[in-house]
Amino acid sequence: MSVMRLDKFLSNLGVGTRSEVKVAIKKKQVRVNGEIAVKSDIKIDPDRDTVYYMDEKLHYEEYEYYMLHKPKGYVSATEDPIHKTVMELIPSKKNGLFPVGRLDKDTEGLLLITNDGQMAHNLLSPKKHVDKTYYARIEGKVTREDVLAFQKGVDIGESNLTLPAKLEIHKSDDTSMVSLTIKEGKFHQVKRMFEAVGKKVIYLKRLSMGTLFLDPNLPVGQVRPLTPDEISLLKTIDKSY
Ligand code: URA
Repeated sequence: MSVMRLDKFLSNLGVGTRSEVKVAIKKKQVRVNGEIAVKSDIKIDPDRDTVYYMDEKLHYEEYEYYMLHKPKGYVSATEDPIHKTVMELIPSKKNGLFPVGRLDKDTEGLLLITNDGQMAHNLLSPKKHVDKTYYARIEGKVTREDVLAFQKGVDIGESNLTLPAKLEIHKSDDTSMVSLTIKEGKFHQVKRMFEAVGKKVIYLKRLSMGTLFLDPNLPVGQVRPLTPDEISLLKTIDKSY
């Protein structure tokens, strides 16, 4: 991480506003590497320097990562003039948080919220072909022919067929239950793939994205920070795809 001013570091961590942290420094309440800090504009490196405020060691997290179990009725955007956005479900007030990719307003399931632009790029880049798995309920019987069609790629009105996708049928009846793993993230892709074989998605939920899986204990509409293991696994995506 790059160096930054001590007062910025302290205010980013929520110690106080810039002027409040200046007062704290004047009151000799801040130490950097064991020495009392005398100026608020000194540069520190959050990865190397140890900073104490009122004898408490501060830990700087530049990035935040949350798993949201997105409910229906929310749009995957940071702002929207009409609809409720998924950001309204995130308690953190950290600047720059955004949803990684989009789920339709009526889609539920796994949505990663972060301010780590590099990670978002790695997960969303069309070149990386990160797997996304969905559970879906479909009107009508999903068949072996559909499995083969999705394996080959279907025409959803783009210049190319969709990349090979893995369709698994859990139940085939008047309403079918399936899971589908795709390697792209085109607009309404799952719905359009089923339309291409003459079928309609009536319920859609994302279960996973790359190495990240929806926590089965996270209720719809709830959010939790990612665990350190989930974060480090996601960071391997850049190298493994
Ligand atoms: N495909 C869709 O059709 N909708 C989503 O929300 C996600 C993938």
